[in-house]
Amino acid sequence: MSYKPNDYYARKAKQENFAARSIYKLEEIDLKHKLFRQGDNVLDLGASPGSWLQYASKKAGEKGKVFGIDLKPVEVKLPNVFTVQDNIETFDLQTLFDRYGFNDKFDVVMSDMAPNTTGSRFTDQARSFDLSMLALQTAKRFLRPGGHFVCKIFDGEDAMAFRDEVKSCFGECFVLRPKSTRNSSKEIFVTGKYFKA
Ligand SMILES: C[S@@+](CC[C@H](N)C(=O)[O-])C[C@H]1O[C@@H](n2cnc3c(N)ncnc32)[C@H](O)[C@@H]1O
Repeated sequence: MSYKPNDYYARKAKQENFAARSIYKLEEIDLKHKLFRQGDNVLDLGASPGSWLQYASKKAGEKGKVFGIDLKPVEVKLPNVFTVQDNIETFDLQTLFDRYGFNDKFDVVMSDMAPNTTGSRFTDQARSFDLSMLALQTAKRFLRPGGHFVCKIFDGEDAMAFRDEVKSCFGECFVLRPKSTRNSSKEIFVTGKYFKA
């Protein structure tokens, strides 16, 4: 299927003032697995342009905080959202938290990170696997016991190894391919609930 920038979910996101159509993937996962509560602290890896930040900000409410990082600038500006433009592979997130005097653990860590695709399925999957493992390491460092994790990965042999890693660290583990995922995309989302610290 060819890329359709103006498909149903892209139009819906525009009408509802979301920064990206990706919002509907997180919404579907959340409706199914109940990830967020008011007052939550949320960490968003690969946050630009910002639709997951918008969703998490509303779910967390004014008592919650949402932190995000991305290589690209984040468009969304909200009172409980704090972002940095940097590379998760080299940036120490603790610097961001220190900047805002935040020294809690997170209730939810989520990653929608995706590599720039090269057209080589093997290379793209391997790169997506590396980013997902980095997201999981970040979750292990910053999640509170009992917290939740959701992470995009390109499907392939490695994806099941990643799912098994998540399974071993969380009480429950689910894999979902959201309805709004484009037919041409290889992405799936692995959710871990109830982090075993
Ligand atoms: C699909 S987009 C995220 C969309 C976002 N969830 C939203 O709702 O607006 C994937 C993002 O991952 C980011 N990304 C990829 N590698 C990264 C890295 N090493 N460090 C930080 N961000 C990265 C990209 O810059 C890109 O903006």
